[in-house]
Amino acid sequence: MPQYWRPSCTLGEGAFGNVHLVQAKKIIVDEKKIIQNEFVTKIVKMTPAALDDITREIEVHQNAKGHPNVITPGVVYIQKIDIGFRVQMALEYASLGDLSLFCAKDKTENQIAYVCRELIKALIHIHEKGIVHGDISYKNVLVAHSGTIKLSDFGMADIMENTCRPGRRTFGGTPGFIAPEIINRQGYDGKADLWSLGAMALSFVKRGNAFRQGLIFDLQTYRRQISENYYPDIENLNITDDFREFLDDLRQYDPTERSTAQELTLDLFVQDSCSRRHFGEYYTKLRHRFGVDNPFPTDVRELEVPVTND
Ligand SMILES: Nc1ncnc2c1ncn2[C@@H]1O[C@H](COP(=O)(O)OP(=O)(O)OP(=O)(O)O)[C@@H](O)[C@H]1O
Ligand SMILES: [Mg+2]
Repeated sequence: MPQYWRPSCTLGEGAFGNVHLVQAKKIIVDEKKIIQNEFVTKIVKMTPAALDDITREIEVHQNAKGHPNVITPGVVYIQKIDIGFRVQMALEYASLGDLSLFCAKDKTENQIAYVCRELIKALIHIHEKGIVHGDISYKNVLVAHSGTIKLSDFGMADIMENTCRPGRRTFGGTPGFIAPEIINRQGYDGKADLWSLGAMALSFVKRGNAFRQGLIFDLQTYRRQISENYYPDIENLNITDDFREFLDDLRQYDPTERSTAQELTLDLFVQDSCSRRHFGEYYTKLRHRFGVDNPFPTDVRELEVPVTND
């Protein structure tokens, strides 16, 4: 890590690595001034055998960038260490963190529709580029200080050329969110992300993973549910008909029966969303109320991710 990348706090501890905030100073020589810039580093330690997985994550994320609803990746450092490698990725900072708190607390349908609408924009973008994310869940969708929704964590992502081949083994992913065709190793495309989008929208209503039953909920339990074509009840939920139809579309076991991200832009539930500004203000307050604020960017301009080590 370059010396001037000084981590100021830990933002997340994932299954594979840790995510830290870096507050760096950027010198603009022409304008003779120094500005504070925030970004994130994700540090993953791995054995040589797992290096392919992280290389794929980096490559796919680099190809997916270039959209306001996708977290921008920056420079990557790979260092040799005793157990294998230490990989450090710079990422754009989303100061309102992931959607865990949104999932757990009170919210309106308009706010859920906003999250879905923005995520659909990200999905249209990555699917057009031939990329499947493969791990959409409320922990992998982040919120920037402005309230912009940002798709993150490309650890399970891959190009459709690879995902469409049946028999492909995948490790990881989030039980209760991964599409049946991934679990069943049938080969899959962008429609897998739409199943996950539906499962995430439902988790917002249920205030947690909607498939969870009992204390222990793991991939094996989820696999059994999928083998029985199970889906949590949506008929008796206290939601509008538009929302129910949206969920009904995405819970189809046959991926060809689900709408594409592009088709969902016309969906009535999605169209009735709150504004970005409203969402940003609401989520800032909510996080503050529950004492989970991250440091706020000092500069309200777009934050920059370092793409080189200077
Ligand atoms: N760019 C970011 N800005 C702010 N917070 C972030 C950022 N990236 C990640 N985080 C936080 O760190 C957590 C873990 O990050 P990420 O999902 O990328 O790592 P992971 O190792 O793949 O984790 P997991 O295995 O839990 O999915 C996120 O859920 C989020 O809370
Ligand atoms: Mg994650």
